[in-house]
Amino acid sequence: MTQPDSFYVTTPIYYVNDAPHIGHAYTTIACDVLARFKRLEGAEVKFLTGTDEHGQKVDKAAKAANIDPQSFTDNVSMHFRNLVNTGDNLLNVTNDDFIRTTEPRHKEAAQAIWQRMKDNGHIYLDSYAGWYSVRDEAYYAESELIDGKAPTGADVEWVEEESYFFDLSQWQDKLLEFYDANPDFVIPKERFNEVKSFVRGGKDYVQGALKDLSISRTTFNWGVPVPGDEKHVMYVWVDALTNYLTATGFPDTDSPSYQQFWPNTTHIVGKDILRFHAVYWPAFLMAADLPLPQKVVAHGWWTIEGEKMSKSLGNVVSPQELVDNFGLDQVRYFLMRQVPFGSDGNFSKANMVSTINADLANNIGNLAQRTLSMIYKQCEGSIPTNTPLTAADIKLLELARVTSNSTNARNRINELIQYCAFDQIIKDIVAIGSAANEYIDEQAPWALKKTNTDRMNVVLYTLAEVVRCIAIMLQPFTPEASKKLLDQLAIPDDQRLFEHLTEHYALTPGTPIEKPQGVFPRMDEALAGDIKNAS
Ligand code: MSP
Repeated sequence: MTQPDSFYVTTPIYYVNDAPHIGHAYTTIACDVLARFKRLEGAEVKFLTGTDEHGQKVDKAAKAANIDPQSFTDNVSMHFRNLVNTGDNLLNVTNDDFIRTTEPRHKEAAQAIWQRMKDNGHIYLDSYAGWYSVRDEAYYAESELIDGKAPTGADVEWVEEESYFFDLSQWQDKLLEFYDANPDFVIPKERFNEVKSFVRGGKDYVQGALKDLSISRTTFNWGVPVPGDEKHVMYVWVDALTNYLTATGFPDTDSPSYQQFWPNTTHIVGKDILRFHAVYWPAFLMAADLPLPQKVVAHGWWTIEGEKMSKSLGNVVSPQELVDNFGLDQVRYFLMRQVPFGSDGNFSKANMVSTINADLANNIGNLAQRTLSMIYKQCEGSIPTNTPLTAADIKLLELARVTSNSTNARNRINELIQYCAFDQIIKDIVAIGSAANEYIDEQAPWALKKTNTDRMNVVLYTLAEVVRCIAIMLQPFTPEASKKLLDQLAIPDDQRLFEHLTEHYALTPGTPIEKPQGVFPRMDEALAGDIKNAS
């Protein structure tokens, strides 16, 4: 027997200065979709999410709320925990762990990686004088400032203090060599080019382009103490990035989880934090003599009705509002369908409603409901016979298993998933639904009922088989609706993997089906409510 693949996927850990919004939901759902795909491929998956609780930004937010930072983070972290399955699971997420950087296991790991970098001679004590942005938790050079602000628009403050430094300047060539040897390390390619350009120091190679990085602070104490010098706390990004290791059992590098998962790591991050993951993190890991992740995938940012999301504009969309207004599967589907992963997206209520209605209600939902209710009524509630199949039946069945580039669906999905091309996978599935709807209109089983019931049976069998394939492929995006469809078709729980897609005649004639219920209701635009103004 071949060993199943191992796959470790992580969301960034979320700052707990504020409540979750659609951007956080997007990253989390994307990781969940990927994790579910890998499981359906037969891989052993570990999926981590959690909260980033130290640093000046969180400390300031706690002070502003007049609450001690531990109680403050306990509270805000819970809102993030409730999005996923370590809490209420608002988003139906299949994470295996939820890490908080204030946990003892993490403090131990952060101190261990620091010690390894120090022991290897990559950390030294000096003093820092320069600009710092609390909102971005990032240092900026004078030359990077635009009108006295960070390039992200965040306020900066002048900081002068004793600080430990990481010798990032020493890692330029090693990073460039690593990027050359791993051409898929960062996805998408354009973002990888930006990363390489940053490390090279612009378009051409500039020696010493990377500056050493200040990695400790003394002016506040909400952080992991530096081992051996406790008046310093670690720079929050050294602490935060290490969370990915902590959850595998690090510093115990012999732990089975570390051994199995750490070498098979994919980080999913927003484009704003790519530099931390694709430059600093690999450098830290090399300095600590630890293996590097396999891949960093950077996604784009969402605007709301064409505007940047911000508290002051009052247009911050919470995951709860989204789910309440549109339904959970619908939200998951829309966010993955709307933009190619990596590009920026715009959230608009009108788009959301039209996509849900076009793809889910009118196309796939309608197909499933027409097929299942005819079988239920006309075939005595059980899967009808499947012989003899005509050329038209076989063509449609092949499409349901073989998609546009004429490799089988399983291989095509596998290929697309390497690039997190979720939107493309969805488009392939919807195309199958459209073809099946055309077929149902052409074959008109409702007319065959009177003229040729044998043929009606074969047509309905063919359609039920297509619904089975669509439901299997949609599971990562719309897990609840897919489950309902597969339950209605009486597909056993252990027959829902991608390997079952390519099985011919997986449905057994004579198997009783459940009374069908629609899974994708049509949305009434008026009922959707104006989520921008929803309280
Ligand atoms: N704490 C750091 C990550 C540390 S990982 C070792 C952080 N946290 S965050 O809460 O500010 O952001 C977490 C994720 O949410 C990032 O991937 C970020 O890109 C994403 N988003 C925040 N706002 C977003 C949008 N408006 N749109 C899409 N994603 C956005 O950064």
